[in-house]
Amino acid sequence: MTELTHPLATVPQDELVARAEADPLRPRFHFVSPAGWLNDPNGVSHWDGTYHLFYQYNPEGAFHHRIHWGHATSADLVTWTDQAVALEPSAGPDAEGCWSGVLVNDGGTPTLVYSGRLNERELPCVAVGSPDLLTWTKAPENPVISAPPAGVDITAYRDHCVWREGEVWRQLVGSGIRGRGGTAFLYESTDLRSWNYIGPLFIGDASEGDPTSSDWTGTMWECVDLFRAGAGALGSTPAEDAPDVLVFSAWNDGDTHHPLYWTGRYSGDTFEPKALHRLDYGGRYFYAPQSFMDASGRRVMFGWLQEGRSDAAMVAAGWSGVMSLPRVVTLGRDGTLEAAPVPELARLRQDHVNVPGRMLVGPGAPEDTGIDGTQLDLELELNLAPGSALQLGVLGSDGDEEATVIEVSRPMEPSLSEGRLRLDRTRSSLAAGGSGDDALDVDEKSGPVPMTDGHVRLRVLVDRSAVEIFANGKPLTARVYPTLGGGHVSLAAAAGTVRLLSLDAWTMKDIFEDARPLFP
Ligand code: FRU
Repeated sequence: MTELTHPLATVPQDELVARAEADPLRPRFHFVSPAGWLNDPNGVSHWDGTYHLFYQYNPEGAFHHRIHWGHATSADLVTWTDQAVALEPSAGPDAEGCWSGVLVNDGGTPTLVYSGRLNERELPCVAVGSPDLLTWTKAPENPVISAPPAGVDITAYRDHCVWREGEVWRQLVGSGIRGRGGTAFLYESTDLRSWNYIGPLFIGDASEGDPTSSDWTGTMWECVDLFRAGAGALGSTPAEDAPDVLVFSAWNDGDTHHPLYWTGRYSGDTFEPKALHRLDYGGRYFYAPQSFMDASGRRVMFGWLQEGRSDAAMVAAGWSGVMSLPRVVTLGRDGTLEAAPVPELARLRQDHVNVPGRMLVGPGAPEDTGIDGTQLDLELELNLAPGSALQLGVLGSDGDEEATVIEVSRPMEPSLSEGRLRLDRTRSSLAAGGSGDDALDVDEKSGPVPMTDGHVRLRVLVDRSAVEIFANGKPLTARVYPTLGGGHVSLAAAAGTVRLLSLDAWTMKDIFEDARPLFP
């Protein structure tokens, strides 16, 4: 067992798992680490029919320190088998942590490209896997890039997007240029070991908008992920309706803001942006996403559902961080991305309840649906009259003192085809801050939702402290920390006339049966 070395390592390691398992707020059908700390998804991939999920992991405790790469595999993206830790810091360029990166197929050899941390700086490193991807050997050439580009005053430099283009490998490393904005530096290589610097792919403008806005691009871009939406590989001649997408997580001076994406065109050595969009209306609660294309050609994305609890509360709980459910990402008719949980998740459904359709007229008090549970999958189909709003309450306590309220609304003007999705966490928890969120973020979460004639497909996945919402393909993810353990689901028209066409609900099975060892 590792020595307790860090000042936050106050929970003995042999107690971490027990503490984590005992926490009623720990999700049970989302992937979580055995205990300790989890952040970004890494090396997400589909290799020889098996899905691989690696993740930023501190098995020493629920705080961010000496990050390892945890590893789990799955046949269906639903249930996961823990595998041995893939990367662990060791003397050399990753002595302080094996930070985020990707998995690529180097002519049949599984190869990881990740950020090694040493002296509080990160540099690109490589590790080579056994054919089963279970044991990893760090390359003797590490770090494979010895310094960030010379002569550029950078804010930070880490995380990788690597792809094969014709005869060469290309790589992006996330960064930021001081006084200008976030960026991704482009490199090229024939062997993944020796890299030629090409230049910044594209530079954001941090002076545009202000740091409090929900689409501020930040002073550094973490976890850049470039892909073609639709048919064709990066760099190939594109179909007109297949934009390239540059996803990044906007960061500033230690603060994780939110994931954003540019649509545009990657061609030659640059990215020509067309439009900037928010990837998830939950902001920092869906952070550092990474995607891959699976064998059936779907773009599947995972993100890190950060905690809202204080550092001390996380440490005491023995665990921190939730992996999002895997999402299929597609291009919507309006040229923006749409997301939906992978259909395979239906395998976890049980105890189906169907609530008959009906009319709700507002303003009305919340009506109990009879659905109850802290692990739920809810599917609603609605028709909103102009000027109406539906409120769906979840995680409601017996006396309704606590409830987390999801609202979808349609503007009064009938010709407008954009409504709104909003999450109200002010009553989510009796603990400090309403949401139980005593850290940074008690803001209201909301964003626009395209709708035709007031038609809304609403999907809500509730997993104790994790809530993932999809309204006509627009995701809003957040964390809540109720104290009363309630699971009531209620409906109300907050305004106008709402037609509930259907409401189907299922409770969701746990994906792990037993406590799991910190080092599988
Ligand atoms: C994003 C991030 C990455 C980094 C990793 C460290 O959440 O800060 O930029 O590689 O986490 O764990």
